[in-house]
Amino acid sequence: MVLLRRIGAGATGEVWRAWHLVLRRAVAAKLPLLAAGDATRLVREGRLLGQLDHPNVVRRVEAADAEEPLLVMELVDGWSLGELVRVHGAFPVAWVLPLLSGAARGVAAMHRAGIVHQDLKPSNLMVDRCGRVKVVDLGISARTDEPRGERSVGTPSFMSPERLDGAAGTPSSDVWGLGLTLFTLLAGRIPLEASGVAPCLLAARPDCPPQVVDLYQRCTTDRDGRGAGSLVEWIDALVPRFGGDLAGLLCASEAKAGNLWG
Ligand SMILES: Nc1ncnc2c1ncn2[C@@H]1O[C@H](COP(=O)(O)OP(=O)(O)OP(=O)(O)O)[C@@H](O)[C@H]1O
Ligand SMILES: [Mg+2]
Repeated sequence: MVLLRRIGAGATGEVWRAWHLVLRRAVAAKLPLLAAGDATRLVREGRLLGQLDHPNVVRRVEAADAEEPLLVMELVDGWSLGELVRVHGAFPVAWVLPLLSGAARGVAAMHRAGIVHQDLKPSNLMVDRCGRVKVVDLGISARTDEPRGERSVGTPSFMSPERLDGAAGTPSSDVWGLGLTLFTLLAGRIPLEASGVAPCLLAARPDCPPQVVDLYQRCTTDRDGRGAGSLVEWIDALVPRFGGDLAGLLCASEAKAGNLWG
């Protein structure tokens, strides 16, 4: 493996664009930050990714282990939604619906496999240059059928009320994370406080169609554990009405955000 260029960094790790010498292809390699200490999270992230096989979830190429703490994934040649909000500000509704549809499909696949993501937010969702949406960063994800530690870990502004109270993540708390992602894309900024109260979408975006406000309310009031699968049809039904303009997002991003990748 030859590490070529650092393309992302978070609280626990760094992601590099790398060249896989055996496969002869570009890949993304995630390595733990030295300060973060051990590789336990990275090993678990690789194990969980290995249990998933879905076009909207980043695919694992090689697992990490304690001797070689390097998680190798498919390289998503595009941008995180967090980067794109910083570049474009508030998105048109027609950009947001197809992004949320892809994200909900990926998260629904995780829920079907018995895995909760627990850290859904724009910087953990990516879109590649062909418009494919990918869920990334399973660093604090967990199987719902295994005992869980580190309950309060996550990103407070995107955490559901019960998670802020210390409960373990559920499919419903992931749906909350998708809802606050919807808020962030439409408002052009992340929610201000970690209060467990959903910020008012209409105050941030008075032009938001009522059906999209309903979708947001659905995400932030879904406490019945049905998970992201129940969102997919809802979102897809809105696309013909309000448009799905991924091409517009991709063109604008090539023009304005291309330099993020160089
Ligand atoms: N497979 C990938 N291909 C391309 N870029 C990626 C890939 N995975 C992650 N990235 C980029 O690297 C950034 C950091 O990755 P990731 O979220 O996995 O790290 P992290 O340390 O767990 O982050 P944090 O703890 O802040 O959420 C992402 O926001 C994204 O921009
Ligand atoms: Mg991240």
